[in-house]
Amino acid sequence: MEFKHVSVMFDEAIEGLDLKSDGIYVDGTLGGGGHSGGICAKLGENGLLIGIDRDKDALMAAEKRLSQYKCRKQLVQSNFSDIKAVLEDLGVDKIDGALLDLGVSSFQLDNPERGFSYMQEAPLDMRMNRDDSLTAYDVVNGYDRDELKDIIKNYGEERWAARIAEFVVRERANKPLETTTELVDVIKKAIPAKARREGPHPAKRTFQAIRIEVNDELGRLEKALDDFLDVLKPGGRLAVITFHSLEDRIVKDTFRRRYDPCTCPPGLPMCVCSKVGDVERPGKPLIPTDEEVETNPRSRSAKLRIAVKK
Ligand SMILES: C[S@@+](CC[C@H](N)C(=O)[O-])C[C@H]1O[C@@H](n2cnc3c(N)ncnc32)[C@H](O)[C@@H]1O
Repeated sequence: MEFKHVSVMFDEAIEGLDLKSDGIYVDGTLGGGGHSGGICAKLGENGLLIGIDRDKDALMAAEKRLSQYKCRKQLVQSNFSDIKAVLEDLGVDKIDGALLDLGVSSFQLDNPERGFSYMQEAPLDMRMNRDDSLTAYDVVNGYDRDELKDIIKNYGEERWAARIAEFVVRERANKPLETTTELVDVIKKAIPAKARREGPHPAKRTFQAIRIEVNDELGRLEKALDDFLDVLKPGGRLAVITFHSLEDRIVKDTFRRRYDPCTCPPGLPMCVCSKVGDVERPGKPLIPTDEEVETNPRSRSAKLRIAVKK
């Protein structure tokens, strides 16, 4: 299958990294190598691109695409939350910048085998790394009703979470749910007809929730952000593109905490402590232009936040 994915906020991300031709940069979400191509194009012979993806198929696609660029590169199959171990293996101490463009690529979404899409019939899988053990099948058929409800509510921000969990548990008592379409049918039955007619596809939020659980997306992100900020050189930048409020909140809170690590009880007139932040005051997030949203609807909810290490 051909790798099709349009990089979101490409110019803003590349500009935001303030690339130096001899710098070391990490693309922690290599995907098809779209953003990495932009990084490579600006690196000279002493620069280095380290590309990481947990998905083997993405690495293969990126390798092909990046072969047209002369920059030095190391592509690694790993989780970006293991950034410190990846750098240690490569003998790299500190880096000049890093990019995280979160979530799944269109290539993963559009590949019917992977089970990410509620629009295509597929086995319930949703693993970004197909060597991982937990699948969407295990979550849908193995988690108890309360666990399912909590995931769908917290990671999908779905108001009908309790009903969806109830219906899934009832349905799977007859026979395990095996495919995306079986799950979509149960979700549709659980959401009242009037609510189903409003807003996005009725399965969108539940699929997002299960995908986040299967890939431990929020846990990995939380760990990764601090580790990426730790390994930046002074003046180095971390650029993160998020696609929903749960991810964005983690990025915003981490950048704020690293800017001002003092936590004081509420009610104190002034919060002063001996801790000193190690990133500059975070600015407002950038969002895509109207033109980009029109040509690439996937960019609609994107936010780009950049942290600069002191
Ligand atoms: C939105 S796509 C990136 C697209 C890429 N920026 C481009 O322009 O082609 C996200 C990629 O990150 C990978 N990914 C998501 N979470 C990851 C993680 N925790 N560790 C490593 N890779 C991850 C996914 O497998 C996917 O290939």
